[in-house]
Amino acid sequence: MVTIKSTREIEAMRKAGALAAQCLTEMLKLVKVGVSPLEIDRACSEWTLAKGAVPAPLNYHGFPGNLCISVNDVVCHGIPDKRAFKKGDLVNLDVTPILDGFHGDTNATVVVGAANESEVDPKVQRLIETARLSMWEGIRQVRPGATVGDIGHAIQTYVENVGFSVVAEYCGHGIGRGFHEDPIVPHIGRRGQGMKLREGMTFTVEPMVNMGKREIFVEKDKWTVRTQDGSLSAQFEHTILVTSSGFEVLTAREGEPRG
Ligand code: MF3
Ligand code: CO
Ligand code: CO
Repeated sequence: MVTIKSTREIEAMRKAGALAAQCLTEMLKLVKVGVSPLEIDRACSEWTLAKGAVPAPLNYHGFPGNLCISVNDVVCHGIPDKRAFKKGDLVNLDVTPILDGFHGDTNATVVVGAANESEVDPKVQRLIETARLSMWEGIRQVRPGATVGDIGHAIQTYVENVGFSVVAEYCGHGIGRGFHEDPIVPHIGRRGQGMKLREGMTFTVEPMVNMGKREIFVEKDKWTVRTQDGSLSAQFEHTILVTSSGFEVLTAREGEPRG
């Protein structure tokens, strides 16, 4: 069931979204050569609790971490472990604080140990930018009357034109008091397909883009999702509100557009 958020609920979602954005900014600063995912996991717990919020991932369907940390060919849902980051690792941090009962969900992908873009392998940089810009192509579709298929179509078209692939099995999702609410927001699809968007809906857009083929598998730990062909995967995620005229990005970080 899709929930339409009231004015008060939207205000709470803005606060949760802003906290998620701030959390992601702070955790990304910790991604350095020699630092382990477990250290970031602990920092995420401490930072979030100090803000009076709770990390939603911990114990969510049994997930054993305070955030997801997905490295290189891990597509999503990476469990924070002791293995220290190496120079050139492709790292996604996905944070989801719950503030006053409402969730904010956002993620981003960076390369470890690169002072600037020019130090990154051009094909890896292209993968990161394709994932990020495809998310924005999807977000730009959002307005009352558009459909979830419009979002998926825009993302898939953008990514496939570059020559990369979109993971089909994991989707964006409604969000609010629940971590994963309706609607499902596919990152592939056709224009006009699926549920119509309405003012007051809140959901995520979070495409996972593989350098190689789109097929994935889930590890024996039941969480870690990897590309089948071992190719690198990048992802970006924002929590979005449908407004009367379009969208508002509830998890915008400094320098990112909000609407
Ligand atoms: N944050 C992820 C998402 O974007 C969900 C992670 S579920 C967890 O939907 F249990 F792995 F944390
Ligand atoms: Co999400
Ligand atoms: Co997320």
